[in-house]
Amino acid sequence: MVFVLAFIIFVYINSSRPSGTWTDSLSWGRKHTKMATHSTTAGRRLSNQTIISPYLVAYPHDYYFILNESARCPSERPYLVLMVPVAPKDRASRDVIRSTWGNETTVLGKTVRLFFMLGLPGINGREQTQEEIFEESREHHDLLQSDFLDSYQNLTIKTLMILKWLSTYCSDASYALKADTDMFVNVRNLVKMLLKAPKKNYMTGIVAKHGTASRNPKSKWYLPVDVFPGNRFPPYAMGQAYAFSLDLPGKLLEAAKHVKAIYIEDAYVGLCMKHLGIRHTEPPSHSLFNLYLRYPQSRCFYSKIISVILRSREQIQEIWKNLKKPGPAC
Ligand SMILES: *[C@@H]1O[C@H](CO)[C@@H](O)[C@H](O)[C@H]1NC(C)=O
Ligand SMILES: *[C@@H]1O[C@H](CO)[C@@H](O)[C@H](O)[C@H]1NC(C)=O
Ligand SMILES: *[C@@H]1O[C@H](CO)[C@@H](O)[C@H](O)[C@H]1NC(C)=O
Ligand SMILES: *[C@@H]1O[C@H](CO)[C@@H](O)[C@H](O)[C@H]1NC(C)=O
Repeated sequence: MVFVLAFIIFVYINSSRPSGTWTDSLSWGRKHTKMATHSTTAGRRLSNQTIISPYLVAYPHDYYFILNESARCPSERPYLVLMVPVAPKDRASRDVIRSTWGNETTVLGKTVRLFFMLGLPGINGREQTQEEIFEESREHHDLLQSDFLDSYQNLTIKTLMILKWLSTYCSDASYALKADTDMFVNVRNLVKMLLKAPKKNYMTGIVAKHGTASRNPKSKWYLPVDVFPGNRFPPYAMGQAYAFSLDLPGKLLEAAKHVKAIYIEDAYVGLCMKHLGIRHTEPPSHSLFNLYLRYPQSRCFYSKIISVILRSREQIQEIWKNLKKPGPAC
């Protein structure tokens, strides 16, 4: 069992995750490989000859919210908030989520709300993109934006800003789900699970237990020894989709002041959980949270899971349409 899980994670870490969010908009894989090959020369040299590795994450730092939707949680009082990190320019993914799994506002009698977390657009065309973001925000009131540069290597900052927003602006909610844009989420099954879940110190999803730091400069997840000296990561909830109780954001942020940031955001949250001495909770069934699976699966299948990674926005729409058809799913 343990071996099987380790193998799955190994395969996963080494092959998959063409994450719709980032590879689409930045073709980050190529950029990263280049940067890794020249990691020493690409490092920024300070006057005192310290080399700042491009793998260092600028955290802790006093980032602030440009868009905070500060009135929404206090007035709408959600039980569950769906938090989706997304690239500033990726309006297409936001629209698909808004019109599919993110569009359920009352589930099993519980209030559910959806928010997207953005950083600052890249320097190219920044002003225009920012204008479009303000426009979209006026239309939907579901964008949160902070003042760090939005990039793959700043995903840890983005996750920390999700936690900061939750603890500052939405602390009365019971649970949050962090989910990437390439996921399909069955919110009803998620709420069903949460209704029976612990109310405190709770985090669940696919818990990776044998993650190791990659020392291969060509890997997408390369971590130089000076950035992360350990070999193994503690258990962590894989970043595609994980749920947690709302007492955790404040605790994790406190821990983050003491745990050196790495850009692999989910492993970093695991490091903070370890610092706090809080164990992850296994989901009631391992078939609830899924990585890539053969597509398509039956309508019955999607009616039983909580999350699965997909390869396109069209697949998300297809599954949604299919699930909404009348009649029993199985
Ligand atoms: C020199 O580098 C150290 C990090 O090793 C840093 O803390 C310090 O602020 C730097 N000093 C100057 C003058 O840049
Ligand atoms: C939310 O953001 C707006 C616009 O930046 C700002 O004026 C306001 O003070 C913020 N509200 C809170 C409660 O931080
Ligand atoms: C969400 O669903 C409602 C119906 O429940 C629909 O009127 C609305 O257009 C949907 N929103 C989007 C963005 O599709
Ligand atoms: C991360 O964000 C900080 C703050 O905006 C910025 O200084 C830094 O260059 C960004 N790092 C990367 C790799 O994009």
